[in-house]
Order: sequence, then structure tokens, then C-alpha cells
Amino acid sequence: MAQPHHPADLRALEGLLAFWADAGVDCVYAEEPVDRMAEGARRLAPQRPPTAPPARQTAAAAPSVAPHVGQALVEARAAATAAGDLTALQAAIAAFEGCSLKAGATNTVFSRGRPDAKIVIVGEGPGAEEDRQGQPFVGPSGRLLDRMLEAAGLADQVFITNTVFWRAPANRTPSPQEQAVCLPFVERAIALVRPQVLLLMGGASAKHLLKRPEGILSLRGRWQDWVSEDGAQSIPAMPTLHPAFLLRQPVAKGHAWQDILTLLSRLEGPA
Ligand code: URA
Repeated sequence: MAQPHHPADLRALEGLLAFWADAGVDCVYAEEPVDRMAEGARRLAPQRPPTAPPARQTAAAAPSVAPHVGQALVEARAAATAAGDLTALQAAIAAFEGCSLKAGATNTVFSRGRPDAKIVIVGEGPGAEEDRQGQPFVGPSGRLLDRMLEAAGLADQVFITNTVFWRAPANRTPSPQEQAVCLPFVERAIALVRPQVLLLMGGASAKHLLKRPEGILSLRGRWQDWVSEDGAQSIPAMPTLHPAFLLRQPVAKGHAWQDILTLLSRLEGPA
């Protein structure tokens, strides 16, 4: 019989998970659910020698995305392209059924801020408070973000969104598939706002939008070129630390402030 977990074990486990998260490990699941019961039954079944060598899978035969994700992506691209303004885009996202996160969420969380902002901020995904209110960055992370933007004189210069529009269960990092099907909508939002710069908050946002494997601690603070999937848009992007990380590691706030000042120095026109 399984023993109850000792509180000390749980603390050690939490410490280890926090260490991994800070080290950039943000994905502890496979791309598809695994049926462990079926796996066990397969292992117990009598083994027969293979009658023919297994077919070799060629690179061309292996799809790069699961078929259901491919279909969702086609639908997302069509819906995003058809949206002529941010209101239509918001409606298209709310009507979209291709992201598996939607089933567990209370609200669709798209954006807040100016439709003609100089800065588009892209976070990771809605948390509990965002899911409740239907707006991005309105919980503890959002309050810190707002204070930083206020201090930099940028509070009314931003449009804020996320890589996904529905809360992930237990606030886990959205999977690459979940982010991929939402990307056409994120790109369309950027195209409609036409900002001077992007501010990418946290590793899940920076790695996904910049298609870079490095962790946020090595990406942050240096200008990158964000290029849309079709290559038609290219905008300078500043990766920085996520406010949730800053709440856990207040000593890192200086780095994030430095990144915001770097961004400020690049903006054209009065702040
Ligand atoms: N964290 C995010 O990345 N986005 C939000 O909207 C809230 C918290």
C-alpha cells in the first residue's frame, strides 16, 4: 500500500521542482497522453518473434505535428487572417475550439491595453485570477507588471496578451502544441496593433516566439528579431524575466528593470 507522503518529502520535492523550473526545465510531459494501463498489458502479453522487419519511418513520412493539431492550426490561421480588427480577433479566439486548454477554462483571456500601443507584451498564459476575470495579468504578477510599467512611464503605452488564451490546469506551462495553435492569433494581434517593440515575459513566451532553445536567463536583456511565421512581420523583441519569477526571486528585479530601461531607450516619440 502506498505510504502517505511525509511533509519533509513534499518540501524536498517542491524545492527540487523550483530548482528545475529556475534552471529552465519547463516541460515534464510528453506531447501526447500515455496510457500506462495499455503499456502494462502489452508487456504482460506473450511475445512472438517479429515476422517481418519493422517498416522504416522516413523523415518525409513523419508528420511534424499531430494531425489534430495540424487541422486546428489551419482553422486558427483562417480565423485569425479573417479578423479585420481586434474586436473581430477577440470574437474569433472565443469561438475557436482547436486548443485543448479551452475545455478546462472558465473564460477566454485575450488582451488588455491600447489597440495602437508602442509595446506589445506577451506573457505565458492566464493564471487563476485571469481565468476568473477574463483579462490578462490581473493577478499578483499583473500588479507587479503594472507597477513596473508605471515607474517607467509606460502604463498607457502597452497592449498585453499571452501565448495561450486559456488557463492551463494547475498553472502548468502550456505545451508546444497548445502554444502553436494559438500563435496565428498572437501574430494577428501584433499585426493589428503594429507596435514598435515586443516585450516577451518569461521563458515560455520568449522561447516560443523567438524559436530559441535557450532559457530566459541567457536570452533576457538582449534585443532579438521577432519574425512572424510567414516572414512578413519583423519587430525588435526584448526578452525579460516573468513577473511571477520576480515575485519568487525579488533580487532579480534589477535585471527586469534594466531590460525595461533598455526597451524605453529604443522607443521613438514621447513616452
Ligand atoms: N502570467 C502570465 O504569463 N500571463 C498572465 O496573464 C498572468 C500571469
